[in-house]
Amino acid sequence: MTTIETIRWVGGPQGRLELIDQTLLPTEFRMIECRDVETVCEAIASLRVRGAPAIGIAAAYGVCLGMQPFVHGDEDRFFTRLEHVVGYLASSRPTAVNLFWALERMRSAAAACRGRKSPREIAAVLLAEAIAIHEEDRRICRAIGRHGAELLSDGQGVLTHCNAGGLATADYGTALAVVFAAVESGKRIHVYADETRPLLQGARLTTWELQRRGIPVTLICDSMAAQVIREGRVQAAITGADRIAANGDAANKIGTYGVALAAAAHEIPFYVAAPQSSFDLALPSGEGIPIEQRDPREITHGFGRQTAPDGIDVYNPAFDVTPAGLITALICENGLIRPVTNDRIAEVLHSDR
Ligand code: MRU
Repeated sequence: MTTIETIRWVGGPQGRLELIDQTLLPTEFRMIECRDVETVCEAIASLRVRGAPAIGIAAAYGVCLGMQPFVHGDEDRFFTRLEHVVGYLASSRPTAVNLFWALERMRSAAAACRGRKSPREIAAVLLAEAIAIHEEDRRICRAIGRHGAELLSDGQGVLTHCNAGGLATADYGTALAVVFAAVESGKRIHVYADETRPLLQGARLTTWELQRRGIPVTLICDSMAAQVIREGRVQAAITGADRIAANGDAANKIGTYGVALAAAAHEIPFYVAAPQSSFDLALPSGEGIPIEQRDPREITHGFGRQTAPDGIDVYNPAFDVTPAGLITALICENGLIRPVTNDRIAEVLHSDR
């Protein structure tokens, strides 16, 4: 199957980052070049690159770009700058924990070299760490796909919300990895994709990816999901996650909670597929997950047309939290977490399969 290269580093430590500009899809496929950390931060904040794992990978490379002008200075200046760059990238989006996880990995990789290597050498270590994060994601997403594929049967319909595909990761996805792996193993799967208001990641990105791969997909408005489930068109729902608390409560794109409620009401399984880097075990429950609030204009002026009166009050949370009790299983690279409980999460995350 054709994979998507969402993110690409070109060259050595003084190289550049290239990203698919996801705001232009599906009508235009264009890579943007990032030659400084400001461009990467803007790309994350404006969702040119989006999806929890992809945000983490882009931020790791963003650190490399941010450090490029400082490789010839002294060590103290280098580390002061590193703190600034990490803090700056951390301010781009609050919910996906992969961002903070990747930045922490970068910071630790540099800290381990302090006093032992020159800034130039540390910059090379930072690039190696970013590449490792990127490469690991490719392997992790394939493992998620393998574990999840066993949950789907030949001939099933599957509902998904937002985009947790190749575009949201290095190249293979989390929720969509499960579909891709099932299809690669010979199962016929028909996906129903919620369009995902207000930024339409489902309509613009999920359908685009599935169509490219020749997987049958039907686009629906978010408000149709419950009816589609009731009509028996889908036998499972799968989404990704931006942050999963220690008890299994999972934050994902706004509207996911409603899908989980509808799935429970009609007794179909609701699965969440995510790498370990999306788990935040420091948070006991989903109540502590910071929810990004976005510009009201995404709702009132979506895609260039005003669709609400001037001055209208708007509430625009970008994510919601699905309680663990509504999640049939979590799918991570180590396997299936079922039932979704603190103990089972800890057990599977700490196992090394
Ligand atoms: O605002 P977005 O497009 O970054 O939201 C993305 C999602 O909610 C995804 O489902 C989640 O990040 C998982 S991506 C593998």
